[in-house]
Amino acid sequence: MRILSVVGARPQFVKLAPIARAAAQAGVEHVIVHTGQHYDPIMSDVFFDDLGIPSPDVHLGIGSGSHGHQTGAMMGPLEDAFLTQKPDWVLVYGDTNSTLAAAVAAVKIHVPLAHLEAGLRSFNRRMPEEHNRVLTDHAADLCLAPTEQAMSHLASEGLADRSVLVGDVMTDVLFQVRDAAADRGPSPIAHAPGSYSIATIHRAETTDDRERLATVLDALRSLDHPVVLLAHPRLVARAAEFGLALDGGSLESRAPLAYPDLVTAVQRSRGVITDSGGLQKEAFLLRVPCTTVRTETEWVETVALGWNVLALTGEEIRAAAQRPKPAATDQAPYGDGFAAGRVIEALRG
Ligand code: UD1
Repeated sequence: MRILSVVGARPQFVKLAPIARAAAQAGVEHVIVHTGQHYDPIMSDVFFDDLGIPSPDVHLGIGSGSHGHQTGAMMGPLEDAFLTQKPDWVLVYGDTNSTLAAAVAAVKIHVPLAHLEAGLRSFNRRMPEEHNRVLTDHAADLCLAPTEQAMSHLASEGLADRSVLVGDVMTDVLFQVRDAAADRGPSPIAHAPGSYSIATIHRAETTDDRERLATVLDALRSLDHPVVLLAHPRLVARAAEFGLALDGGSLESRAPLAYPDLVTAVQRSRGVITDSGGLQKEAFLLRVPCTTVRTETEWVETVALGWNVLALTGEEIRAAAQRPKPAATDQAPYGDGFAAGRVIEALRG
């Protein structure tokens, strides 16, 4: 069997790592196509290096662009890659423009399509990611769901017959990296363990509206403890455009971290403040309280279990980010850390 994975953006490289490892262990042929959506070394190459992912077999070098231009530019070269590589399955990950481009390119030429992290919903139609994931689920021949909740969304959209619960592959990689990092040396963050929060802000809904971005940055500045903002290129670009500073008060910013350093930095933090999807779940798995600066979350289990709070206004962000640690839980809604093996089994049929 020959699987062709399409990736392009940072969270997809993280999800690719356990899949590449499981495919190699199962003796399955695995071709990696990188669209080039993320191209800065700190957003791309370091993930391949640190997580031991084989270099991409094909790199399309598409780069940045508006949604239509970026997605459209990927489709032709992806079709060519599928025709040349002749995979039994195209495997797409998550909810980015690279996911949707590959999904459309594959199904139009009748290459079986599997969607990893299927069934997540925010029900927010202003989010580009929501359209990417809904359209990809409905195009896919196989929906690989991370949670029971995702399975129930797929069932309510009539997709139960093609859906399989595999668990969450980000849990696989997080546990592996956490355990390997346990005896790593100094912290990547120059503050005492337990004294600082880690923040990330990159979603269009937060970064692309000046007032919204200013509200979030002001709230971070006013916290009663240091906040280290790992500044995504989109955030840096928008802040410069709007004339907004990324430091001042309690706020300091620095370049994004490589994945193992991110895990260490979060594990030693007192809290996470983010609009990222994956980081909310990583905080929960590391049992660090999370404040999510969005109106909703796809990872509802983190909220239900008390480890994640949605906060929109400056006041809400301050209150949530300064709250005490919630009650301990041994619930494991994201699986056991062995999802990637189940993905390969499901693809084998
Ligand atoms: C994309 C995904 C989002 C995912 C995120 C992870 C879509 C619609 N969004 O958002 O779901 O959570 O990746 O990071 O696919 N840029 C650089 N260097 C890079 C990459 C981007 O400078 O290596 C800058 C460019 O100016 C670009 C902007 O960041 O215009 C945004 O990049 P883009 O790929 O459009 O989306 P992300 O915001 O990263």
